[in-house]
Amino acid sequence: MRKFVTTTAIAAVMMSLGGGMSARAAENVEVLHWWTSGGEAAALDVLKKDLESKGISWTDMPVAGGGGTEAMTVLRARVTAGNAPTAVQMLGFDILDWAKEGALGNLDEVAAQEGWDKVVPTALQQFSKYDGHWIAAPVNVHSTNWVWINKAALDKAGGKEPANWDELIVLLDKFKEQGITPVAHGGQPWQDATIFDAVVLSLGNDFYKKAFIDLDPATLGSPQMKEAFDRMTKLRSYVDDNFSGRDWNLASAMVIEDKAGLQFMGDWAKGEFLKAGKKPGTDFVCMRFPGTQGSVTFNSDQFAMFKVADDKVPAQLKMASAIESPTFQSAFNVVKGSVPARTDVPDTDFDDCGKKGIKDLAEANASGSLYGSMAHGHANPAAVKNAIYDVVTRQFNGELSSEEAVTELVAAVEGAK
Ligand code: BGC
Repeated sequence: MRKFVTTTAIAAVMMSLGGGMSARAAENVEVLHWWTSGGEAAALDVLKKDLESKGISWTDMPVAGGGGTEAMTVLRARVTAGNAPTAVQMLGFDILDWAKEGALGNLDEVAAQEGWDKVVPTALQQFSKYDGHWIAAPVNVHSTNWVWINKAALDKAGGKEPANWDELIVLLDKFKEQGITPVAHGGQPWQDATIFDAVVLSLGNDFYKKAFIDLDPATLGSPQMKEAFDRMTKLRSYVDDNFSGRDWNLASAMVIEDKAGLQFMGDWAKGEFLKAGKKPGTDFVCMRFPGTQGSVTFNSDQFAMFKVADDKVPAQLKMASAIESPTFQSAFNVVKGSVPARTDVPDTDFDDCGKKGIKDLAEANASGSLYGSMAHGHANPAAVKNAIYDVVTRQFNGELSSEEAVTELVAAVEGAK
């Protein structure tokens, strides 16, 4: 009975508000994204609620699959069918590819009003702008050269964070002795590639840059690249038998649940630890992949705004504006594990890993050791990225020796360029 009265009352109020109310109700954004894990969904909720509070309703188009490979396939089908979503979570070069096709809208007006040029780091603007026009709203900055360690297991192993490759191997052996899986990993091409990002970076900034940014054939085919693949083979010996196909968040859960020692993963992993009620410094330790301190391989989630019908544009612009608000940037990134996509957001609300992430990013940027992540679409267009994925995964699974992988890598990149 009470429910009936309430519903009737609401209907009456809505009718009395008339046109104004229906105009508000028409403000809607349809959003395609791959944020489907517990931590990711919690962060997305911050955005949904923020928009709802501004009278904008949300039509959700989640496409599961870490790194967004599957989401990008679904997007292609949608756009081909003439049915583009309002906004799409997207990484780096994919944004530019869609812009080249003329599929994206224009955010110049809101960007100018809010002075985005001055506060969004240049490294991100490279992907948020095309031909001088704003086409995407950056939500965050993630980075891939992180390690997430189970604190109790680390303490049992002597408590020292590994400072270089050799110390890392010693630690992994100690985890093995403890009877836990040393490395929690999911065998999916993008996850293999995420580890490869860090391994290549651990062999030198210059090496990473020449290999993945410049795509220099001599570097791709160098003895150092063979060493990178050898390191992958070594790491492969520390994963469990069931790693194949495992989602990244299930690998994080192994560390969270004391079943594994550590995970090599971008800082979205922190979102899973936080969602599980775990505290940095107490339950888990975050550190840069040994040998990569001072350097950062970044990726930024941006919402690429598609060309939509005129009546949908106001909501699209409001969404872009909401995303760039400093308060939102703080609230969202605290939950997501990433750091703000603006340089003027205080780190006050961030935990120690977040504070470190903000500081590392600023320092790497200032010292010229900030690089786009190969694994997450910020070093090369998808064609090259996928060609590298293929070689990395085949080598990781023992289908190619390190020598063969080096030769294949040179050829694959050359063919995809
Ligand atoms: C995205 C993150 C996401 C992760 C796993 C990365 O490419 O930047 O936001 O959490 O993939 O799905």
